[in-house]
Amino acid sequence: MANLERFLTIDELMAEARRKVPKQFFDYADSGAWTESTYRANTEDFRKVFLRQRVAVNMEGRNLATTMTGEQAAMPVALAPTGFTGMQSADGEIKAARAAEKFGVPFTLSTMSICSIEDVAENTSKPFWFQLYMMRDRGFIERLIDRAKAAKCSALVLTMDLQILGQRHKDLRNGMSAPPKFTPKFVFEMMIKPRWAMQMLGTRRHTFRNIVGHVDAAGDLSKLSAWTSSQFDPALSWKEIGWVKERFGGPVIVKGILDADDARAAVAHGADGIIVSNHGGRQLDGAPSSIRVLPEIVEAVGHLTDVYLDSGIRSGQDVLKAVALGAKGTFIGRAFLWGLGAGGEAGVTRALEIIRRELDITMALCGERDIHDVGLHNIYSVDFPP
Ligand code: FNR
Repeated sequence: MANLERFLTIDELMAEARRKVPKQFFDYADSGAWTESTYRANTEDFRKVFLRQRVAVNMEGRNLATTMTGEQAAMPVALAPTGFTGMQSADGEIKAARAAEKFGVPFTLSTMSICSIEDVAENTSKPFWFQLYMMRDRGFIERLIDRAKAAKCSALVLTMDLQILGQRHKDLRNGMSAPPKFTPKFVFEMMIKPRWAMQMLGTRRHTFRNIVGHVDAAGDLSKLSAWTSSQFDPALSWKEIGWVKERFGGPVIVKGILDADDARAAVAHGADGIIVSNHGGRQLDGAPSSIRVLPEIVEAVGHLTDVYLDSGIRSGQDVLKAVALGAKGTFIGRAFLWGLGAGGEAGVTRALEIIRRELDITMALCGERDIHDVGLHNIYSVDFPP
């Protein structure tokens, strides 16, 4: 892949992805619910956290490596589960999983992925994590958990903030679907983005392969999306954590927590970790940013379980701020998706390199040599208005 080193920031990867990926799929990633105010707050609030600079501290021999739920991580960053990833770049889930594996950070495959659990397992050699949406059809969920076990997934991420789908205006306007519908607008996009089109022609994976096979969608893919959107479970309860844990038999991390009481409930029901997340601003518009609520959740359950954070991470500085405010690690969504759209597997690697370099330099300038020593003492102030 031609000279990805020219991209120095995640924003630059984003601009390149915008150039290469058809609008409906670029917009699918670059969008939040309704007015997108929570989506914007996720990044803006990181700018309100100020770091304490220290000097004349020996900065040699730095360490960023840590563990996340029993997995070695070259830095406190994992790839978040994202749906339709195989539409940013053909076989995108496999490319992202391979980049994560080589870099040494955990990868999480979404229920709503284009490549299936088995597709990713066949094309990687280390265990990855699987993200589960509880759907009404519990038979389907049982089989999905069994498939994740058979593929040796080492943890499940149980997403609890999607009992109903938040509305994203861009997706509705673009008529987003996988596979895409051949409207005149989309055909035009193919002509101006022929590389993407050629890649897609070269793969058999164009729709949700975790689900095809369960729903008899042969020849009628509209059935598949109708089934999927009718399946998010509005009656979800905390009891499901125990049920999932028992069937899976490994760690279950609960994702989508923004409230200290919910964090306590998740832990009381057996969560082996929680992810403070507003789904990247894609669900409740008007909810606070994740970084804003992190301290109160760490205070509530940080002594009992690992607290992770996602939503809004665009740099290594952001990772450091989250860790300083008590996160054991972070997850990135769009940051790796833009890398994927910009340059496939190498683009995901580039996104990880950018974040690692920023994290390393920031940690050093804060006077720390080991990521495990980073904490509240590295924060100068947090300017969140009351
Ligand atoms: C997501 N997210 C998500 N989460 C999940 O549990 N299952 C899923 O299928 C998806 N799908 C998805 C698609 C896209 C395009 C995005 C951007 C996000 C949410 C994701 O796991 C994570 O919470 C956010 O992406 C974090 O915010 P940032 O890093 O994108 O700002």
